[in-house]
Amino acid sequence: MAEVIVVENADAAGELIAASIRALIEARPDAVLGLATGSTPLPIYRSLARSFADRPLDVSQVRGFSLDEYVGLPAGHPESYRSVITRDVVTPLGLTPGNIHVPSGDPAGLPAAGADYERAIVRAGGVDLQILGIGRTGHLGFNEPGSSFESLTRVKTLTPQTRADNARFFASADDVPVHCITQGLGTIRRARHLVLLAVGEGKAAAIAAAVEGPVTASQPGSAIQLHPHVTVVVDEAAASMLANLDYYRYAWANKPAWQGI
Ligand code: PGA
Repeated sequence: MAEVIVVENADAAGELIAASIRALIEARPDAVLGLATGSTPLPIYRSLARSFADRPLDVSQVRGFSLDEYVGLPAGHPESYRSVITRDVVTPLGLTPGNIHVPSGDPAGLPAAGADYERAIVRAGGVDLQILGIGRTGHLGFNEPGSSFESLTRVKTLTPQTRADNARFFASADDVPVHCITQGLGTIRRARHLVLLAVGEGKAAAIAAAVEGPVTASQPGSAIQLHPHVTVVVDEAAASMLANLDYYRYAWANKPAWQGI
């Protein structure tokens, strides 16, 4: 079962997850992080940057693999996930740019890009800790409803809902690409620890379906139920549709201190 931790707000979530990532890097200086874009993970990266500023840590060997990328944005486009990861993660955390991978959304290389990315993840020894957000459609990465639980990195078509949700980053909704390249649910499930963060009531239904709903490709988030080590961090609003909330609170309150998340 996923561990569900209810926190006061996004900043508290960021601190909790950042502490776990810091501990991972302290134990394994060349840890492999699975990076996510979107608004949700930003407090994690901000908290990590503060932690590194307060107590410097050598992160030069840390490696990272991003979940997904838009197809067809020109190189250097500010909303390409390569640019976003550089701006929000690599630069503020002082990571080594060459160690951080983002799938290529260049249309010319698409037929081979998925398999290339999978090989790179395997060569790195797999992802130690995968940060995840969840879309209102229930997507993990850009695996929209219907995605196979065995899927690997490949091209997908974004739903109109996801394009509308991401229109805030672009000049107009029509500018949001229709296609993306994303790690598959099978890729994500290979990571050793999944940490899924969601805040706000807009995510409550997707979180309830992911944690407690039937395991179905119609709810890609429910793939987390097939994974042995999942931590779901939510605020009260995102937790509000969970049926077993009292139990999750009880389990967290009684968690042995040595266990970590
Ligand atoms: P958001 O996106 O963090 O911007 O809400 C999450 C997602 O689409 O996975």
